[in-house]
Amino acid sequence: MSSGVESQQVLARAREVVSSCTGFRDTAISPSAVDRVVRAELARGRSAAELLAELQRPGTPLARALLDAVLVGETYFFRHPEQFRFLASEVVPAALRRGELALRGWSAGCASGEETYSIAACLLGMAPPGVRVEVLGTDLHEGRLQAARRGVYGNWSRREAGPMLYPLYTEVADGRVSIIDSVRAVTRFAQGNLLEPLPELHGSFDVIFCRNVLTYFSPDAVQMALGHLARALVPGGHLLLGTVEVDHPPAGLVRVGPPELQAFRRPTAKELAPPPKPAAREPEPFRVAMRAVTPPLPAPPPPPSPVKLHTEALQRIEGGDEAGAATILEKLLQQFRDYLPGMLELALLRERAGAREAAFALMNTVRDNAARLPPDLTIEGPEPLPARFYRASADAFLTLGAIE
Ligand SMILES: C[S@@+](CC[C@H](N)C(=O)[O-])C[C@H]1O[C@@H](n2cnc3c(N)ncnc32)[C@H](O)[C@@H]1O
Repeated sequence: MSSGVESQQVLARAREVVSSCTGFRDTAISPSAVDRVVRAELARGRSAAELLAELQRPGTPLARALLDAVLVGETYFFRHPEQFRFLASEVVPAALRRGELALRGWSAGCASGEETYSIAACLLGMAPPGVRVEVLGTDLHEGRLQAARRGVYGNWSRREAGPMLYPLYTEVADGRVSIIDSVRAVTRFAQGNLLEPLPELHGSFDVIFCRNVLTYFSPDAVQMALGHLARALVPGGHLLLGTVEVDHPPAGLVRVGPPELQAFRRPTAKELAPPPKPAAREPEPFRVAMRAVTPPLPAPPPPPSPVKLHTEALQRIEGGDEAGAATILEKLLQQFRDYLPGMLELALLRERAGAREAAFALMNTVRDNAARLPPDLTIEGPEPLPARFYRASADAFLTLGAIE
């Protein structure tokens, strides 16, 4: 028979084990859940000393039972729909502009898989022909991963707060739904702990969702997990966190969109490159003396407009420097992501340079973005043209193969 003191020791040790395995801060570990597991073991006739000994070893059945009891698996399809709209309107076009031939997503802390399948459905809905979709879901809880692989869900996974933004499932018996084959085919699940780096074999990602997980973590564990997540992004890739999980951008990432979106982007190498240093000059006493009486510098000129940069690119094309023009257009599109005339121009340059798939990816983005605009809306460019011109040009390119 175990004494009260021994039972308390087991409970305290059990909480330490949960905290070190999950990263949970102590206040996020449900006392009743831990208590239930420990009491059930004691009720089976095991002694406190036996339980303490088992808790010294990693990965034992007792440790597993504790994790299963404390890990909260609350989730549903298209939870926080604004983030899926952002995925469709910003993340995918950005990946296509980078010329990605596969859209790769990771749902980190995926629970029973609703988030993972929602990402897959959204990416499939947005991927132009020829661009693959691959989505990984990872979680610490093996039981939930098994449910995720089954892909059959009840009403609790379908809530009004999560509108069906993209086709995802078909009805089966008893009001249950089953994930459609096209979405299953691009989705896989693996066990993984966010306190450890994701194994390299999984590659890197254009988008990572890690929502409603870090909220349970200690500050140190949050930083550790964020480091692993940021390193798993491709340059230019996006990380989406839960609503209140961080109050400033994770190290190495920049915030995009409003704070409530909790969206962050890994800058590209080009963005990180320091600006060229001005040529060094010999110090001149006269110049120094002059500085004291020089009036304050005028305000810097406004940043170049997309039309100005586009015109510069056109001048390069006319001068035969298509590679230089492409570089200007790439830079332009990093700054002005929705600038349709630049996207069309770059797609045509890519086609002429023989990069057919990249051209198609860009042209698909032109078509999709133009389709969302009123057809008669005038788009400013070197030549102002209606949105329907861009849609028709992209359609023609995509059906006929190329525009001469
Ligand atoms: C509340 S669910 C969130 C599910 C989904 N991301 C969403 O927002 O709908 C939290 C999930 O994080 C998982 N989790 C907690 N700590 C983890 C860790 N250290 N590594 C991996 N997954 C963890 C839990 O098992 C649980 O399934």
